[in-house]
Amino acid sequence: MEISQDLEKRADAIIAEYPVKRSAAMMLMHLIQEHFGYFDDDAINYAAKKLGVQPVEVYGMLSFYPMFSDKPRGRIHIKVCRTLSCALAGSIDLANKISELVDCPINGTKGVYTLEFVECLGNCVKGANVQVNDKLYDGLNPQDAEKFVEQLKADDLAGKLNSVSAFERPQGADFNSPEYKG
Ligand code: FES
Repeated sequence: MEISQDLEKRADAIIAEYPVKRSAAMMLMHLIQEHFGYFDDDAINYAAKKLGVQPVEVYGMLSFYPMFSDKPRGRIHIKVCRTLSCALAGSIDLANKISELVDCPINGTKGVYTLEFVECLGNCVKGANVQVNDKLYDGLNPQDAEKFVEQLKADDLAGKLNSVSAFERPQGADFNSPEYKG
């Protein structure tokens, strides 16, 4: 992976905001995840060097937090909540049906899709919940799978699945607004 001057400048600016380099770990890792799309060994070593920590410490965060990945992901990243409320609302069956419809294995990547189970998306009252890139689809059930995938494709064509950089999100954003929910 090539470390561009722009990346270097942005990394330094993030680190300068913290009194201790390693405190910038989360923000630096978001930057690297957005820049490369995933972490390979070079990216892990780069983050470790910038933060003044061992690569294994970066790997520890990488493997713990689901927003970071050590593999390239598809352009359309579908995350199906499998925690209790959503599971009771049928999210496991829903994921299986989505998997068939988009021809992508669960916890795998194929074509433009990555399909994964994730833990609670923080919207338990409206399960089953599925997050696609930055957009949340709620109140789904397994019978909705076909309709959901049609909607997903329409939203993709309309550009509604384009991710917003974590560094460009407005402060105090209303996550129930159409900007986030479509
Ligand atoms: S259990 Fe699915 S959003 Fe909380």
